[in-house]
Amino acid sequence: MKSLFGKVVLRISVFFIVITAVSIAASILYLNGSYNRRVQSELLNEARVLESLYDSESAASRYAAALHEISGIRTTVIDRRGVVLLDTEADAAALGNHLDRPEIQQALRSGTGVNVRHSATLNRELMYAAVYSARHDVFIRTALPLEGVSLIASGIWLPLAVMLAVSFLLCLAAALIVSRSVVAPVIQLKKDTRSIAEGRYDEVIPLKTGDEIEELSRSLGAMASDLKKSIDDIKEKNTRLQAVFRAVPGGILAVDKTGRVIMANPAASAMFSIKGDPEGRHLIEVVKYPEIEAVISEAFLRGGLVEKDVHIQKGMEGVSLKVFAVPVSSEGADYGVILLAQDITNLKKLENIRSEFAANVSHELKTPLTIISGFVDTLKDPNIGGADAARFLDIISLETERLSRLIGDLLLLSELENTAPAPEAPIDIREAVLEAAGLFEKSAKEKGVDMRIDAGEEALYVAAGKDRIKQLVINLVDNAVKYTPAGGSVTVEVSKDDSRAKISVSDTGVGIPPENIPRLFERFYRVDKSRSRALGGTGLGLAIAKHIASLFGGHITVRSAPGKGSRFDVYLPAADAAM
Ligand SMILES: Nc1ncnc2c1ncn2[C@@H]1O[C@H](COP(=O)(O)OP(=O)(O)OP(=O)(O)O)[C@@H](O)[C@H]1O
Ligand SMILES: [Mg+2]
Repeated sequence: MKSLFGKVVLRISVFFIVITAVSIAASILYLNGSYNRRVQSELLNEARVLESLYDSESAASRYAAALHEISGIRTTVIDRRGVVLLDTEADAAALGNHLDRPEIQQALRSGTGVNVRHSATLNRELMYAAVYSARHDVFIRTALPLEGVSLIASGIWLPLAVMLAVSFLLCLAAALIVSRSVVAPVIQLKKDTRSIAEGRYDEVIPLKTGDEIEELSRSLGAMASDLKKSIDDIKEKNTRLQAVFRAVPGGILAVDKTGRVIMANPAASAMFSIKGDPEGRHLIEVVKYPEIEAVISEAFLRGGLVEKDVHIQKGMEGVSLKVFAVPVSSEGADYGVILLAQDITNLKKLENIRSEFAANVSHELKTPLTIISGFVDTLKDPNIGGADAARFLDIISLETERLSRLIGDLLLLSELENTAPAPEAPIDIREAVLEAAGLFEKSAKEKGVDMRIDAGEEALYVAAGKDRIKQLVINLVDNAVKYTPAGGSVTVEVSKDDSRAKISVSDTGVGIPPENIPRLFERFYRVDKSRSRALGGTGLGLAIAKHIASLFGGHITVRSAPGKGSRFDVYLPAADAAM
């Protein structure tokens, strides 16, 4: 691309050269014309002088000879019929008839005649002037070669060339200065527009040229500041929108109509294990779960909201998601689809637990009822002996007791689930523990299990309901005694752990395999169903214990090794006695 500066200089120079050439040509033409007129009047004058001298032929021919000698003017005298009488350059007798010469014809008509032509005789451009002398009835003709003109002109060439060169240089300098002063602001404008295009709005410098360029510069400045404001505005809105997108707990994924990802918020990236920046990449490349693609495709096809629960294979157990996919369009043009996803894995789990719970409850209720009704039917038989009847009644009573315990536990659980934590008066936790653990001393001894209770020396207060704490300890100690064979030991301790009260129930019993520990506190969960049932358990004890602990702001931890024993630690926030 040519620079504006170069262009301006070039144009001014060409313009100057053309003007100069035209004016030189005009002045040459003018000079030529005025020289010709001068030669013409001189030739006519000389012819008239000769005419006046013609009375004396000798005087005239002397004058003609002198004229030829001094001025190089050729004189010819021609009579009325065109016969050459005298010529100062050629032999008159050798010359042909001259009547047809244009200047002679003119002089014949109007007294004088002038003509410029090439003379074959002299091989030169000549000017001829003729005067008709009525007195002597002859034509007196004078002629002069016109090469004098070019000679004069050639004398002009040198100063003309010098003048031309000097004025060209001056003009070039002027062109440079003028161009610079005109072009510099334009160059600055160019820089300014580039600054605007590249977002450097503060670098736009207002020009003070006092002309249209200044106006242009001012508009450019105004445009830059408007643009900056709009862009800042958009940036801020974008930042806010981004913040919202980032903060939304659900996954948001936008896909354009060609299937490329427009945006994904961090929640979506985490949910769909998206690595790197997904923007601009194809959905298939970014999200590896076909279920998600299927929902998006369906939304595209249907052109309306698609709502689905999907399960994607992520991690060990997979993740359950509720997804909504909705096509986005404006003024009839489709932009793409927005997908919203909510992790409902826990909700699903809860649902499963609930339905499992219902099934478990039915089953646990049905078993003792079946046994009871069976034995009642048997007892109706009149042939049943007294000893058998007593045994059957014992079984019925045992199962009834189990049934009532089960129902009691279920009621307790539902009560615990439905009670909101409420402030309780502080109790000395040792009392509750001693009372609860004390209940097992006898049965432990009978079973051959050594039982130790260490409640410490100092009172330890906890804001909790005493009966509930007792229930919690009963459930833990019951398990410890139940799952510890004869010869083993059970230890119950109360201690202070920082700002917490700690109740520990440990045993040297059968222990729990590690894989069962995470599910231990679920309702009806038992490690060994048949053994637990044989021991009268329904799997609700630990669920109740966990609920009680959390009701008072605490929690339970388990450490256990199969064959070595288990340890359950209950942590509860300690309270001041004065409360
Ligand atoms: N101290 C322990 N040692 C070994 N296993 C235990 C111990 N405590 C609990 N378990 C295991 O955890 C399971 C759940 O205990 P949980 O107290 O909830 O139910 P349960 O004792 O079987 O019945 P319930 O307490 O309702 O009478 C038990 O079935 C048992 O397998
Ligand atoms: Mg139990």
